[in-house]
Amino acid sequence: MKERLTDLYLPSKAKVIDVVDMTSDVKLFKVMPEKTFKYKPGQFLMVSLWGEGEVPISIASTYGVREEIELCIKRVGPVTSAIHSLKSGDDIGIRGPFGNGFSVNRAKNRDILFVGGGIGIAPLRSLINEVLKNKKDFKKIELVYGSRTPSDILFMDDINLWQKKGVNVILTVDRKDRGWRGNAGIVTEHIGKSRVSFKNAHAFVCGPQVMINAVMRDLSSRGTPEGNIIMTLEAHMKCGVGKCGHCYADGKYICTDGPVFSYKEIKQFNLNGV
Ligand SMILES: Cc1cc2nc3c(=O)[nH]c(=O)nc-3n(C[C@H](O)[C@H](O)[C@H](O)COP(=O)(O)OP(=O)(O)OC[C@H]3O[C@@H](n4cnc5c(N)ncnc54)[C@H](O)[C@@H]3O)c2cc1C
Ligand code: FES
Repeated sequence: MKERLTDLYLPSKAKVIDVVDMTSDVKLFKVMPEKTFKYKPGQFLMVSLWGEGEVPISIASTYGVREEIELCIKRVGPVTSAIHSLKSGDDIGIRGPFGNGFSVNRAKNRDILFVGGGIGIAPLRSLINEVLKNKKDFKKIELVYGSRTPSDILFMDDINLWQKKGVNVILTVDRKDRGWRGNAGIVTEHIGKSRVSFKNAHAFVCGPQVMINAVMRDLSSRGTPEGNIIMTLEAHMKCGVGKCGHCYADGKYICTDGPVFSYKEIKQFNLNGV
């Protein structure tokens, strides 16, 4: 089993084996790579479509669970729109896996708080499933997840399963609809409902930059050590391998030194708003 597909720059083929409509602008692509490889939560692939371009996408599946790889992709511009037009049987190009990924070693024997916003649940899904494989190594496991509206909530089946496995889940939406009886408001309005011990917990945060910034400040004010607040940064990327400089900021390449960083590192290297 390879740690990485052979060539850093040459995409390898993967076949789309299923496409699931998740919301009006998000699809889950199940793809079978021509060459199998190992990966860890928080790593990403450079996904390409001939004649359209290439984009970084987090791996939403968990290594070792199934052979196929799952990519949860939101349609925002030309390349993601072209990917959204793919059907089962089509081919895509993939390079990677790239990036440092999450490490949960330091979170062992502690409470874990996952905080996700929108499509940010995709890399967290990979991590949550990895953590649940070794649930006894951790204390409380909680998730606070915010979406724009109830119909934008992603991975509801997984969320139900996580709850059955003992994860305390707090869902919130920016805008309620008539059937929604749950929480409304941004995630920071609901983090206080979590039962984790904030001073000892490890937090993993993924979502839009504005949400990440608010969550970092909130957790820090509750006493969570800055080195225990871990997040993924989104930067504009081209090569994904530390060569082109597109994602360079203050001595760090987001593609190779990250995209996972702690709040402590973000402050130290002034990476905020890359
Ligand atoms: C490490 C990493 C992991 C990612 N994982 C996922 C994922 O799992 N699922 C997913 O749907 N998207 C993910 N993204 C974002 C995805 O790469 C972009 O949405 C995509 O590149 C947009 O390409 P486009 O040609 O469709 O649109 P573009 O025209 O390139 O972009 C549309 C809009 O999105 C903004 N944008 C594009 N890329 C980024 C970026 N990297 N950071 C901030 N703003 C951006 C642009 O400024 C523009 O406003 C990830 C990005 C990174 C860096
Ligand atoms: S994307 Fe090229 S250096 Fe990071």
